[in-house]
Amino acid sequence: MTKRYLVRTFGCQMNEHDSERLAGLLEADGYAPTTEVEDADVVVLNTCCIRENADNKLYGTLGHLKSVKDRHPGMEIVVAGCLAQKDQEVVAERAPYVDVVLGTHNVHRAVELLHEHQRTGRPVLEILSETVAEDHELFPSALPVVRESGHSAWVTIQIGCDNSCAFCIVPAVRGSEISRPFGDVVAEVERAAADGVTQVTLLGQNVNSFGRDLTLRLRGDDATTGTATAVDPAFLAGPAWVADGARRPRPLFADLLRSVGDVPGIRRVRYTSPHPKDLRPETIAAMADVPAVCEHLHLPLQSGSDRILAAMHRGYTADRYLERLAAARAGIDDLAVTTDIIVGFPGETDADFEATLQVAAEARYDNAFTFVYSPRPGTEAAGLADAAVPHDVAADRMARLRTVVEHSSRQDHEARVGRVEEVLVEGPSRRDPQRLTGRTRHNRLVHFAADEPMRAGTYATVLVTGASTTNLVGDPVEVLAGPAHRTRIPVSAG
Ligand code: SAH
Ligand code: SF4
Ligand code: F3S
Repeated sequence: MTKRYLVRTFGCQMNEHDSERLAGLLEADGYAPTTEVEDADVVVLNTCCIRENADNKLYGTLGHLKSVKDRHPGMEIVVAGCLAQKDQEVVAERAPYVDVVLGTHNVHRAVELLHEHQRTGRPVLEILSETVAEDHELFPSALPVVRESGHSAWVTIQIGCDNSCAFCIVPAVRGSEISRPFGDVVAEVERAAADGVTQVTLLGQNVNSFGRDLTLRLRGDDATTGTATAVDPAFLAGPAWVADGARRPRPLFADLLRSVGDVPGIRRVRYTSPHPKDLRPETIAAMADVPAVCEHLHLPLQSGSDRILAAMHRGYTADRYLERLAAARAGIDDLAVTTDIIVGFPGETDADFEATLQVAAEARYDNAFTFVYSPRPGTEAAGLADAAVPHDVAADRMARLRTVVEHSSRQDHEARVGRVEEVLVEGPSRRDPQRLTGRTRHNRLVHFAADEPMRAGTYATVLVTGASTTNLVGDPVEVLAGPAHRTRIPVSAG
């Protein structure tokens, strides 16, 4: 009988994309998907540790899974991802019924480790301290993948992070920054487009530093061999880097945006996240010039206080951030801006927080992911416990910040009423299946009447008739293009 698997994802898009790869590896090994834990022979939890509640969620879920496993003794539990990378053997100590633990540098080994467990009957732990695999294994997009959606694809352009934001655990669990070869990214997008994908989201922790290491690699090859590199420089660093004329010190993220945006069949290009300190004029120009690149910029602020920004090691001041944002708004017509903000970083005073409110109001965010600071053991800020902001103060600041953000969200959304927007249909609305849900180029959620059936992946225009802080509502105008992908037919039990 066909064995079944279920992957549950916690955390960010990197993890969601790793989960697609875990699913791809399991399906290549003969497993079929299920959505019910009770039916699963293998349950993979792909974990996050960005904040403490992410930790708690995992151990809560594991507790629940134990009771399922007690009823289905053959079931195997795999813990993967950032929290496994951080906690290592602690996972087995806290949850001894877990069968396989793997980290962020060896996702490609998931099935082998599962087989090892099946062979030996013993728990398997494999955590690597850094990535040792070849390029094709290193980048999640390069392995077999079961995409969650037929029309949209995540494409990893960079793994790891070389920044050292004082609050952040990501560099510790994802390792140092490695850019994917330019030609590999473009080839991946071309393959996705050939499968009918029309929207791609380029993924990296700091996409604007894409390419820095690629030219170092070219120079390193030159230095060791004394000749031209064995790798085609255009493949590694992109056509703009090797073009006649002045060579850039390194390929730019902007070059990649242009090349990806030119791939036939790709109607929308998104990316996340650029670091404000590295947001270059070239990126803004590419966003303005390339029709496929959506007019949406996610620019994490974290704090509006220069003192706190310095303590966080963010590398910009509030004024610098606002200048870059103004340049982006001036360069890109009708730009929507979203952000991430942390409240209650150690030592944050009322005046610091007021500065954050001020910047948030000035930035006119369309939406913001707001977080109460959560100390992560091993990060620099975790050593600042003496300066911790009391929880009730942080909660109060969060509520005030939400008011400011929601004010600009509502204004931005209301300004769309009466306009016709292009919407990429995602499917029936969860709350009201009679309606359809989709996203505008600004990434705003739109619910609209389903006069005619539209499959996920359809592009349609919608007249916006109403707005709230969270979404737009509207009426369909016309279908622009049907979905280009084939619908996946679920495999039934064998
Ligand atoms: N590389 C991305 C951020 C990835 S983490 C970037 O630099 O934009 C996503 C968000 O989680 C961060 O932007 C930050 O706002 C939040 N975050 C990270 N560590 C946190 C912590 N210890 N406590 C609270 N929020 C945190
Ligand atoms: Fe974390 Fe900063 Fe790197 Fe983003 S840029 S992943 S916040 S260290
Ligand atoms: Fe979480 Fe890891 Fe992403 S810690 S936010 S899943 S990089």
